[in-house]
Amino acid sequence: MSLDLPAVIADITASMASMEDRGQVATYIPELATIDPAQFGIAIVTADGRILTGGDADTGFSIQSVSKVFALTLALGKVGDQLWDRVGREPSGNAFNSITQLEHEQGIPRNPFINAGAIVVADVNLGGHEPRVAIGEMLRFVRYLAGDDSITINDAVAASETATGFRNMALANYMRAFNNVRHPAELVLGSYFHQCAIEMSCRQLALAGRYLMLDGRHPGGGRVISPRRARRINALMLTCGHYDASGDFAFRVGIPGKSGVGGGILAIVPGRAAIAVWSPGLNASGNSCLGTLALEELARRTGWSVF
Ligand code: DON
Repeated sequence: MSLDLPAVIADITASMASMEDRGQVATYIPELATIDPAQFGIAIVTADGRILTGGDADTGFSIQSVSKVFALTLALGKVGDQLWDRVGREPSGNAFNSITQLEHEQGIPRNPFINAGAIVVADVNLGGHEPRVAIGEMLRFVRYLAGDDSITINDAVAASETATGFRNMALANYMRAFNNVRHPAELVLGSYFHQCAIEMSCRQLALAGRYLMLDGRHPGGGRVISPRRARRINALMLTCGHYDASGDFAFRVGIPGKSGVGGGILAIVPGRAAIAVWSPGLNASGNSCLGTLALEELARRTGWSVF
């Protein structure tokens, strides 16, 4: 029997609407604490170019840590495999904002998707320029990937995190002491907080993720990255994309995915689909509660687990 994807999306959207436990919205970034948790969106772009959506798929949200995938792609384009001298490729088993491993591991973060790793990646992407140059480059990159110039940065969210991001400031300065952050912490975080504050809808995010399902090709023609690099980024999403819940996400969903505290998740089924889900309520690990449930159900109905 062929897969009736529109029906699957309609079923999942309806079942998410009736869920009572939606988790808690992130409050440590004050601007995110005001978001209505009663929202859920899903968008799927298939390898043959179909776009299917459900729920609030066109509502913009703060992509937060999902931006770490795009930032990593840019940094690898700048310094290639030398990046791996400064950032590891192993799951951390710790919370996304943890500092503990850095002391015993020479200021080298476990992977590019925890905050410490993403701060090193932001340091690489800064490359001696002003933060606004790196921020502009990042915004142009996601617009190009999504084929949508209307994507913007929410300055209020960036300002909110700048005012309260003491842990990230500590991480950046701590790694600077090991010379693994090379620019002043304020500049690196100026860039990092704006990258996290990019706003996209599920539709835009799924479109932006197409290169990872297409072996690195841009569907509009040309290549974003090599097939090998696309495979490697997907591998890191599977092993590290959900922090200390990455094992559980692989167990339940079985698809490479990257989450953010705005409640978004980008999930990639290589050769088949780029998926974005969003619901602002988070579980205890800081990952979207309904977003994870929706992906679990989608994987069950489609057989899209990579295992
Ligand atoms: O640095 C932070 O804490 C946020 N800007 C991003 C964290 C995040 O999205 C973690 N995701 N689940």
